[in-house]
Amino acid sequence: MIKTELSRRSLIAGAGALGLLARPAIGLAIGPAGDQAPAFVDALIARMTPEEKAGQLTLMASAIGGAAASALNPPNANNVEQQLAAARAGQITGIFNGAGSDWHRRLQQAALQSRLKIPMVFAADVIHGFRTVFPVPLGEAASFEPELAERTARAAAEEASAAGIAWTFAPMVDIARDARWGRSVEGAGEDVLLGRRFAEARVKGFQGRGVDRDDCVLACAKHFAAYGAAEAGLDYSTVDVSERTLREVYFPPFQAAFDAGAGTTMASFNEISGVPATGNRWLLTDVLRGEWGFSGLVVSDYTGDEEMIAHGFAADGRDAARLAFLAGVDMSMQSGLYAKYLPGLVAEGAVPQARFDQAVRRVLTMKARLGLFDRPLGRIVAGRERERVRTPAALELAREAARRSVVMLKNDGGLLPLAKAGRRIALIGPFAEGQHDLIGPWNVYGDDKQAVDLATGIRAAVADPKLVTVAAGSGIDAPLAGGIEAAVAAARAADVLVLAIGESSNMSGEAQSRTAITVPAPQQALAEAVAAVGKPIVVVLKNGRALALEGAVRDAPAILVSWFLGSEGGPALADILFGAYSPSARLPVSFPYESGQEPYHYDHKPTGRPNPPGPPQEYKAHYRTAPNEALFPFGHGLTYGEIAYSGLSVGDGRLGGSGTLSIAATVANKGRRAAEEVVQLYVRDRTASVTRPVRQLKDFRKIALAPGESKTVRFTLRREDLLFIGQDGKPTVEPGWFDLWVGPSAAEGLQGAFELVA
Ligand code: BGC
Repeated sequence: MIKTELSRRSLIAGAGALGLLARPAIGLAIGPAGDQAPAFVDALIARMTPEEKAGQLTLMASAIGGAAASALNPPNANNVEQQLAAARAGQITGIFNGAGSDWHRRLQQAALQSRLKIPMVFAADVIHGFRTVFPVPLGEAASFEPELAERTARAAAEEASAAGIAWTFAPMVDIARDARWGRSVEGAGEDVLLGRRFAEARVKGFQGRGVDRDDCVLACAKHFAAYGAAEAGLDYSTVDVSERTLREVYFPPFQAAFDAGAGTTMASFNEISGVPATGNRWLLTDVLRGEWGFSGLVVSDYTGDEEMIAHGFAADGRDAARLAFLAGVDMSMQSGLYAKYLPGLVAEGAVPQARFDQAVRRVLTMKARLGLFDRPLGRIVAGRERERVRTPAALELAREAARRSVVMLKNDGGLLPLAKAGRRIALIGPFAEGQHDLIGPWNVYGDDKQAVDLATGIRAAVADPKLVTVAAGSGIDAPLAGGIEAAVAAARAADVLVLAIGESSNMSGEAQSRTAITVPAPQQALAEAVAAVGKPIVVVLKNGRALALEGAVRDAPAILVSWFLGSEGGPALADILFGAYSPSARLPVSFPYESGQEPYHYDHKPTGRPNPPGPPQEYKAHYRTAPNEALFPFGHGLTYGEIAYSGLSVGDGRLGGSGTLSIAATVANKGRRAAEEVVQLYVRDRTASVTRPVRQLKDFRKIALAPGESKTVRFTLRREDLLFIGQDGKPTVEPGWFDLWVGPSAAEGLQGAFELVA
């Protein structure tokens, strides 16, 4: 349990100051795994050989991969017969990213022929959908609607479980403050509160009404921990952050996931301040289990244990297995080191028998909770997989989630929405047409060929599809012979241009770090050329991270951020372009002016030499060539309404004792179109014993406003919302003055203040 003593400077924190950073032991919805194992588990363990035990701790990639098994984690080199034999011999606990129910059935039947008939578990990276693909997690986070993420995770679980999958390696809850890091695309962005809310929602969605049900999957909060803090945004690279930053920034989304019942977590690839997470006993045992009371399962990442040799932390495979296992990794993914070395390590006394049995108990308890002992084929019912995937309801949800994920950065002169009739549209760019780069970088079971592209979406929405011309204009990374000329000709013949440019799927995701987070040069050249034609341009960006926009792209009158929207991206974008839906999403990551500003996050600390508002001053904190702030800040996003904030009230301006502070503001839509506004509450602690960020998101609410409508939005601030990690390393709050803002982004808002009193 986290200790909740307060630092000496803390005058007022009390029993109520639990919550954000300090938590009581975590109540797992799936029940404590390992410590309260079902009675039969220990009897079973007593009958197991050391090799069978090590087998239960060994997870392997499937010999037959999912539809789009990736180059990154290819199907197992073992052939099918070898994997079936391993199942029959009880040598593997399960497989991941397997092909579907037929293959899973064969494997399960083989496992049921093993000496102890322990069922296998089938895991998979079901990150943002299964065969129906929803927006990438970063895009979905832009909706600022955790309940939407809960619905899409639920739908994904329904599809995946029908293929026999019982365990998803999701949600990815890493905070990502450096857009160069390609895996930004898999999480909920740079903000801690947003990260917590989406972590919780996704776990609830995956695990549904109980993980023993055949339409639910067990969640795995990953990658524990601080993987997103890789130096210079280079994937897998060194992480060196303070314990305070771990506890204030990187841990809370994991805590939220565990509080919501996530039964497993995955150790991350990176080291933390010198110790690889996979061999980090402080992280995986002292904090995770000792402080937080987590009693689920810890799995390594893909060969994460073996990689400690390359880290220079383990001498060889045997040493790596020992270090990972003793640190707290219960199950090894893909290296096979546990199967190879654990029986010997236990026999020699290098690993205690009790630790060996504890890990096996956790695995068997997980399988029991999943209902696998009772119904090993429960999720594998003939025909169900086909019936449950890509249903009309799931595809409609994909379209809804997609349109709720699109952020409108600019709309000068009300260029959007476009008229459906009477205008000639030139749709230009490498992402204008074609079933590629639609579903995003990390989807094992989705298929771009089943997704709907932008051109198809637009043609279906306009009155006369013949008025739409398409020109690729450029490749993604390389110019296209004659491309610019054809695009310029199309632009000349059109009334309005829709420019679909940005990143390909494989420019973000695992191992896809970029040093410049810009639109690739050939596409930028295309944008400059068509902009010179002088027609109004709507830029539709495809991106897996925050981008630094330049030149004609940045200066276009209308810009939409569309991420990778999944199965129904084209129709969803058309819904927005032609006004069937008013954009309502917000940036979950700041878009800087330049790549060199990264790592950038809105909730940075002040400096001792802040540059006063206005031009740069000598010897103040500023860049020589770029502003300090973001071009488009966190939380920013426009609607088709005309939103105005007024009438901020901050209760009596005092937050004391165990009380609360009521904050209210009026938000009006003065425009002629309906809109949904994300109202955001930010706070700054002016003075504290540990410096505090210039702003921190404390709450947000998405509200619908009809034309002319206004609503009073109320927030309640509690003392525990103001906790931070004090100088003594413990959660604390301190009395004093706080600024607050209620507004539409991290850079705007009505400003007020309140005093926290003892
Ligand atoms: C990734 C994990 C993923 C695992 C299994 C690793 O490369 O880091 O996020 O769950 O592979 O596919």
